[in-house]
Amino acid sequence: MTNPVTIERKDEIAVVWTDNPPVNAISHAVRLGLMEAFESLAKEGDAKAIILACKGRTFFAGADISEFDKPVQAPHLQDVFDTIEGMKVPVVAAIFGTALGGGMEATLACHYRVADAKARLGLPELNLGIFPGAGGTQRLPRLIGVRGALDIIMTAKPISASKAKELGIVDHIAGGDLMAEAKAYARKLVEEGKGPRPVSRLSVDGTGVEEAFAHYEAFAKSRLKGRTSPLKALQAVRAAMDLPFKEGLALELKLCLEAKDTFESKALRHIFFAERKTRKIPGLPEDTAVHEIANVGILGAGTMGGGIAMCFANAGLPVTLVEANEDNLKRGLATIERNYERTVKRGRLSAKQKNALMANIRGSLDMANFADCDLVIEAVFENMDLKKEVFRKLDSICKQGAILATNTSTLDVDEIAAETKRPEYVLGLHFFSPANIMPLLEVVRGAKTDAGVLKSALQVGKRIRKIPVVSGICFGFIGNRMLSPYGREAQRMLLEGASPKDIDSVLEDFGMAMGVLAVYDLAGIDVGHKIREAMRDNKPDDPTFFAAGAVMNDAGRFGQKTGTGFYRYEKGTRGRFEDPDALALIRKTAEDLGVVQDPPGREEIFERCLYPLVNEGANILDEGIALRASDIDVVWTAGYGFPRHKGGPMFWADHIGLDKILAGMKKYREKFGPLFWEPAPLLERLVREGKTFADWDKENA
Ligand code: 3HC
Ligand code: NAI
Repeated sequence: MTNPVTIERKDEIAVVWTDNPPVNAISHAVRLGLMEAFESLAKEGDAKAIILACKGRTFFAGADISEFDKPVQAPHLQDVFDTIEGMKVPVVAAIFGTALGGGMEATLACHYRVADAKARLGLPELNLGIFPGAGGTQRLPRLIGVRGALDIIMTAKPISASKAKELGIVDHIAGGDLMAEAKAYARKLVEEGKGPRPVSRLSVDGTGVEEAFAHYEAFAKSRLKGRTSPLKALQAVRAAMDLPFKEGLALELKLCLEAKDTFESKALRHIFFAERKTRKIPGLPEDTAVHEIANVGILGAGTMGGGIAMCFANAGLPVTLVEANEDNLKRGLATIERNYERTVKRGRLSAKQKNALMANIRGSLDMANFADCDLVIEAVFENMDLKKEVFRKLDSICKQGAILATNTSTLDVDEIAAETKRPEYVLGLHFFSPANIMPLLEVVRGAKTDAGVLKSALQVGKRIRKIPVVSGICFGFIGNRMLSPYGREAQRMLLEGASPKDIDSVLEDFGMAMGVLAVYDLAGIDVGHKIREAMRDNKPDDPTFFAAGAVMNDAGRFGQKTGTGFYRYEKGTRGRFEDPDALALIRKTAEDLGVVQDPPGREEIFERCLYPLVNEGANILDEGIALRASDIDVVWTAGYGFPRHKGGPMFWADHIGLDKILAGMKKYREKFGPLFWEPAPLLERLVREGKTFADWDKENA
């Protein structure tokens, strides 16, 4: 294996280069290479200054996460960075791209930092269930104070080069050629006789820190509820104040290694890689040509069309937004503008930027304006006849090679594609509401969808900052199909006497962003009801099936938008309240349907919601609707609020044991009969063979 680290010596300034594509992750080979390079430079002793630099597209993106499951191999990052910091001549970091995690910690071990103007620096380790473990919790508070360090560590969000300069992390911002400016900076240090400047020798500024600690302790308990790594991070930062550097470093390492071995960290790492795997499609040749997508058309400027238009406009793509009539177009554009204005008010967008984004969206009433679009997404009402008519028109208007997509949430994409003369150019792009915010994008592959079209859709999905997941065709695709048994049981338990709060609190205590009944209230109870009514012929033969939702719908209690649903909402408060009227309606329905009042306990609520969810995931996998179990995990963490630190339903199920899920399914089959409780054949097979969903992925995806 070639050494990823090399030394360039042209003059008195040595450059230590790392070249480890794609993102210069600090793998074992890189750690070894860096150690050797700095040790040999120390031994030779004739370089007057050293620059730490990277080739390729970015400075170090951090430690190599793929090594976290393996035993730790020396040298540890802390030792490499100690060696760098201990050099007798100044070491300058030349930062570009993203210096993240161990990458940012590498810069802190250097004595000076020069950054490209577009560089970003950050310590995102909490997103992986660990925290900075290569000196970050000890050096950053010494360099910029505890408050600033806590902001960077606890939010896990990268900052810009200019912000880093303002905070005193970066010494010089390179407006031009980074390496030329880093060399000039190093040469100036030499000329001025400025030597090493180890951060570890600085003392920690402890003024006003208790307030910052209290703020982030509260943040850890609320926003990062159920997680342990944030508390460990706080403990490590505190050690920077209380302990000498070396002892603080030792504590940081001990706590970080403990964090790495938790389920929380394993789950978050699983999601990290799972989100990147979704774009890898088995059987799709590497060299499959993609279609360039330079401009986009969107039909329908309602709830979804408007949000979708924003996604593309934000990514700098010109959008043609077509509506059926003037009023709806005006209303749609006004909603988009209002959304942008809200971002301006929050200070996250300037008025000028907002105007530029609005200028990317051209409203129109004429579908002929789609003629030159490379991709057209339809977001009109959920009605098959209408969609068919629209696709026939699009097919006749749009240029050859243009991709036609539908945002349908339930309709058969193949049936829609069959209306066109180009079914290979048709697929589903299922965005989630609000489309400009939700990161998930289900890419629905039709029977005839061309490989290049699929690949283009995945690429454009990434370009608009979505996490695209491929789904086959079935009712509800991956996400909504799994939502059905999960929500069905929640609604059935209402009839048995549980209150909405009883159910949602169990789910929220598990870590769901929102209980499922609160989700129905948010999404609109009428929306799901309409869809179920449309499938009346295929409805299961059970009068209790979503009966609680139906009674809410019939009473005009659609959820948040009407102020009442499963809960009651009060204007001006963000809270939701248990509503005696809702409880009475549900009780009456239960009586009419003859449901015995026997409220389930917390454990039963938990099992009856989550086990069928996993069971349906197994069916989806077995039928080839999802390509891999990890894709299902991404759908549920990115689109349905499943806790990332539990890794998604399938990863979590592997963790608690598939035999437990199977036993649970059988237990409730005994109680309620087979209609809803038949274990998935794949679940039974995996349990029989002593395997997990992760094993299934290894063997099949
Ligand atoms: N380790 C291992 N692999 C990594 C990696 C890392 N730190 N960062 C990225 N990769 C891999 C990805 O898995 C992907 O692999 P693939 O091509 O086989 O799918 C490839 O690099 C490219 O990644 P992206 O698709 O994410 O590329 P982008 O250009 O969209 O984003 C990035 C680049 C911003 C660097 C993004 O990859 C990222 O955020 N990486 C993780 C950064 C991070 O969390 N660093 C902290 C690591 S933990 C640490 O340093 C501990 C220390 O404190 C001790
Ligand atoms: P909506 O009712 O808010 O918007 C539909 C818009 O399409 C309306 O503004 C209407 O005037 C316009 N329209 C209707 N026929 C048209 C035509 N022939 N030409 C041009 N414009 C036309 O509906 P919404 O909620 O945006 O849904 C659109 C699609 O997205 C549906 O297929 C729906 O199933 C799907 N979807 C909806 C989600 C949601 O949460 N609302 C989530 C995911 C998908």
